[in-house]
Amino acid sequence: MSATLKVKVWRGAAQGEFQTFEVPRHASQTVLDVVMHIQRALDPTLAYRYACRVGMCGSCAMTVNGAPRWTCRTHVDKVALKNEMSIAPLRNLPVIRDLATDMSEFFDKWAKAKGRFSGERSRRDDFARVAPGSERRKAADAGIECIGCGVCYAACDVVAWHRDYLGPAALNRAWTLVNDERDRETLERLRAVAGDAGCHACHTHMSCTQRCPKQLSPTASIAGLKRALVKAAMEGEL
Ligand code: SF4
Ligand code: SF4
Ligand code: FES
Repeated sequence: MSATLKVKVWRGAAQGEFQTFEVPRHASQTVLDVVMHIQRALDPTLAYRYACRVGMCGSCAMTVNGAPRWTCRTHVDKVALKNEMSIAPLRNLPVIRDLATDMSEFFDKWAKAKGRFSGERSRRDDFARVAPGSERRKAADAGIECIGCGVCYAACDVVAWHRDYLGPAALNRAWTLVNDERDRETLERLRAVAGDAGCHACHTHMSCTQRCPKQLSPTASIAGLKRALVKAAMEGEL
């Protein structure tokens, strides 16, 4: 292992350029460690975002050598090519500065897909009992671990072409809630994901599923939404 890593880091916003830094290498060094070293030792003006450093918050997502990743869970050894590496902000989102993106449109689309649970019980009611082995519970469980990191959204080419497309994370969330038998807005949610910007815009490229650090499959969730929409339409519910 060479003692030094040459790192190209995006500087600026939509207009900008890569700046090269030389960073000492260490055993078990993560890409986030590299970014932190640059900001703490070489250039304190570097903007980036992180919180947990253990793969729980999703806020450290960036583009590493062209692919979206959680930087705190990506080891330099796995991604450095001949001791070189590039780090850029997530694709498909406006850049605030350097490595920090504006996630507003990502979460606005989550809201447009009705990604908020809507139950009818109050805290005075007994809690709901959902059979762990039921098909709907299993389908909800398959997507529920999403932490909204935006990696899938950055990986999706349809988001890049079609700016209104709700994208894999919002649709995965919608499918999770469609399968939550406590939720009371299933039809409204299906209507919300039925338009041109909804699940039918997905081209099933699978990039979202290949890149999701939680090993979720937004592609399967989107296919589930398509099936549910056909069924609801045939039953005259839409
Ligand atoms: S589906 Fe995966 S990649 Fe997409 S936001 Fe959720 S956790 Fe991140
Ligand atoms: S499967 Fe659909 S949502 Fe996922 S990356 Fe491909 S087009 Fe985007
Ligand atoms: S800093 Fe929280 S997932 Fe990386």
